[in-house]
Amino acid sequence: MPAIERSRLVQLPSKILGRQCILRPYRSGDGAAMWDAVNEDRTDLKTWLPWIDNHLSIEDSENYVRNMAGKWITRESITLGIFSLDEKTLYGGTGFHGFDWAVPSLTIGWFLRKSARGRGIGTEAVSLCCTLAFEQIKVNRVWGSVDATNEKSWKLFERVGFRREGHLRGDSRSHHGAVRDTFIYGMLARDWSAPQ
Ligand SMILES: CC(C)(COP(=O)(O)OP(=O)(O)OC[C@H]1O[C@@H](n2cnc3c(N)ncnc32)[C@H](O)[C@@H]1OP(=O)(O)O)[C@@H](O)C(=O)NCCC(=O)NCCS
Repeated sequence: MPAIERSRLVQLPSKILGRQCILRPYRSGDGAAMWDAVNEDRTDLKTWLPWIDNHLSIEDSENYVRNMAGKWITRESITLGIFSLDEKTLYGGTGFHGFDWAVPSLTIGWFLRKSARGRGIGTEAVSLCCTLAFEQIKVNRVWGSVDATNEKSWKLFERVGFRREGHLRGDSRSHHGAVRDTFIYGMLARDWSAPQ
């Protein structure tokens, strides 16, 4: 897989259709849906995600989606909303926020609102992202890091087929102030086969 020389020219779809969800970039006006998703159980999301307190008003959420819509165009962030099939409900978000275009390698992340969990929507969304990364963008590697105590999240990595590549002991401090262990998960293009 060659290096990607001009990342802004990477072709991306305007929508990705799954069985249970649609992935698409955020656009102006999605702030209300984002605000709704974050507020459904803010305390739970805050356990794992430091950025939840950036959403303290609907305007904050609108600011976020417009920022992501801009970064989608410049390929500084490839962030996708996970929507219900009728696109009326935002189930969560996923996509790529770290890039090494020379490898090429992408870092992945995600969240789901509480009412969207336990149905495989996260697994489907992350699998669709891997298909995008390996089959369309044509990267060598997708990887992510996760708090070792975030079992729901590292199980999601494993359901999609990522390998645990590392266990970093006491490597970082969580946004709650405790020193934590981190698991690193990775998938290579040669490992990837999309679920049928
Ligand atoms: C991480 C997170 C997305 C996982 O959510 P999830 O609902 O467990 O994941 P999925 O949507 O893939 O659903 C899997 C669950 O649905 C079940 N399921 C039902 N139908 C399924 C299907 N068709 N395919 C896969 N799983 C299915 C699975 O058994 C699993 O349940 P289990 O954990 O009780 O075994 C969610 O917990 C979350 O948003 N956490 C907070 C944010 C966060 O931690 N982000 C990551 C920071 S690194």
